Amino acid sequence: MSPAKLVIALTKGRILDEVLPLLEQAGVTPQEDIRNSRKLLFDSNLPNVRLMVIRGSDVPTYVELGSADIGIAGKDMILEYGSQGFYEPLDLKLARCRLMTAAAVGARLDGPRLRVASKFVNIAKRFFAEQGRQVDIIKLNGALELAPLMGLADCIVDIVDTGKTLKAHGLESRDWIADVSTRVIVNRAAMKIKHAEVQALLQRLQQAVERQQVV
Ligand code: PRP
Repeated sequence: MSPAKLVIALTKGRILDEVLPLLEQAGVTPQEDIRNSRKLLFDSNLPNVRLMVIRGSDVPTYVELGSADIGIAGKDMILEYGSQGFYEPLDLKLARCRLMTAAAVGARLDGPRLRVASKFVNIAKRFFAEQGRQVDIIKLNGALELAPLMGLADCIVDIVDTGKTLKAHGLESRDWIADVSTRVIVNRAAMKIKHAEVQALLQRLQQAVERQQVV
């Protein structure tokens, strides 16, 4: 019997640059230069594996709805998507950072109703609801650091890595929300129906992650 076909949805951008070498170690290489192509769908060296390159925020959608069997995306995108509709069997330990709240250095955030700017609106809503705080969420798509500076919001929910971006804008991190790294997610039906192929790939990726940790 020929192996089941697998579609892997990859996150474009920085994550792709880090994931491609790991995939290569796991035995999967795109048939053409995936980083410098306008195409979105690629054949790989394996006749049964195809690769899609999409925005990280769309990876969970494709995987949950089954148009991709496997997805590779940041934990921030998975948390923002918010569904439990797929498995998350593997942490690739790449692109590690934290989701934090941040505000102007020394600013008091004890007003009755906080204005929170973020591109992670679902994460922000959940976090402040768990804190029992009334907040107004303001959706932005980037450059979040400007929001407190320009008086648009009292605080932001954003990715923090080195903390340099916050510092450069007179901001400081406040509450930790989650650790973020690149994760592998798997469609629930594919995990059963394409078990052998999915498990083989997960195992090879796991070995590649372990080798990477040792280096
Ligand atoms: C993220 C985040 C911050 C920055 C934090 O942006 O939004 O701007 O990284 O990194 P630091 O703590 O090391 O300074 P990213 O570069 O991912 O681009 P984005 O604005 O598209 O999210």
